[in-house]
Amino acid sequence: MGTIQLRTEIPGPRSRALMARRAAAVARGPFHATPVFAARAEGAVIEDVDGNRFIDFAGGIGCLNTGHRAPRVMAAVRDQMEKFLHVCFSVTPYEGYIAVAEKLNALAPGKFPKKTLLVNSGAEAVENAVKIARAYTKRSAVICFEDAFHGRTFMTMSLTSKPHPYKADFGPLPGDVYRIPFAYAYRSAPGSTAASFAQELEDAFKRVVAAESVAAVLAEPVLGEGGFVVPPREYFALLQGICRKRGILFIADEVQSGFGRTGKFFACEHFGIEPDLITSAKSLGGGFPLAAVTGRAEIMDAPEVGGLGGTFGGNPVSCAAALAAIETIEREGLLARSMAIGERFEARARVWQKRWALVGEVRGLGGMCAMELVRSPEKREPAEEETKEIARYCYEHGLITITAGTYGNVIRILVPLVVTDAQFDEGLEVIEAALASVAVVPERKQVAISK
Ligand SMILES: Cc1ncc(COP(=O)(O)O)c(C=O)c1O
Repeated sequence: MGTIQLRTEIPGPRSRALMARRAAAVARGPFHATPVFAARAEGAVIEDVDGNRFIDFAGGIGCLNTGHRAPRVMAAVRDQMEKFLHVCFSVTPYEGYIAVAEKLNALAPGKFPKKTLLVNSGAEAVENAVKIARAYTKRSAVICFEDAFHGRTFMTMSLTSKPHPYKADFGPLPGDVYRIPFAYAYRSAPGSTAASFAQELEDAFKRVVAAESVAAVLAEPVLGEGGFVVPPREYFALLQGICRKRGILFIADEVQSGFGRTGKFFACEHFGIEPDLITSAKSLGGGFPLAAVTGRAEIMDAPEVGGLGGTFGGNPVSCAAALAAIETIEREGLLARSMAIGERFEARARVWQKRWALVGEVRGLGGMCAMELVRSPEKREPAEEETKEIARYCYEHGLITITAGTYGNVIRILVPLVVTDAQFDEGLEVIEAALASVAVVPERKQVAISK
């Protein structure tokens, strides 16, 4: 018998009742990828309030690389809870915060001295990275990328690319932010190369902002919300080379791509670069809220005492969870597991690509893998409605997936890396059935859907 078990229609009666309460009590703004409410979770499996069991390919949007309720994380959290919950690192400091900083300093690429700041969320980490870069360089401009996502706070809204739903209605947004195209080969001029993509940065200094005003270039090593876009291997080395010549810092936003997701602790390791600053969050906390900025010691020390921090930043329970999550990645070989998951997905998805024109591109880096769906391989018109249909088919058949992409036409895999082969294959079967249901007769069905 497989892992998936559906006892009611989806959503079941208890989920529907909770959705009615949610609609009455909770702001409309937070989006739901599925209408099912969680009751418990373990490893790569979520059980809903109606007793239905789902395989989880979303991992709380990439926060559970070590799995739901990872045993080491659970034990470390229980142990910390017996000692103290919150004292505030700015009032009575504690060892856990320092231990996480030491670990991140050791894991981040580069042999130079490093320091770390802990905060609560990915957006807060990006905000702080910008503050630190500005304080160090005494410059204010930041260059970011099309299709990037960095969060929903004011500075990170400015840095995020997609207007709806992230930015529209919320302005005015902080300025001195400049955007250049990312190395998104599938949606760029044929023949584009790492060098031609990197040239966009040089061009920006001529066309939009003076290089000597720029504090930092901020990039996701693999676009997350933007659709799991993996740039050519030489791209970031070229960008960082340009930055170094101009005294500009290079910040890697590893909030989604970090902590084993791509088969390395940090995705930037695949590109052979040593960013000046790295932001982490999501899977760093093993399911608890924790985020970090890690970087060159002299840069991290630029802001004055009291200029960084926050009441809950580096919460002791989150720190205990993070140390246990890192140990889990190391001891359970989850980096190698991530690569294996990526290969298993790719092998299967390449077969789908041959079979269905809908599957435009299969791409990824280790276990951060995805497929971009299009109405035809030639025109590459984004198949947004079909993507939504597939995601709905999946949860109705016991698989939780999430979409991505500026055009909402990417199915992305953020499965906990502790998923078993049997569970992973069972999840892939559901995606295959979903594709078959949407793309049986590609041309005819597409016309019907796009009306
Ligand atoms: C690359 C990246 N940066 C920043 C963020 C914002 O993180 P948070 O939602 O924890 O604020 C996200 C969230 O998806 C992300 O993917």
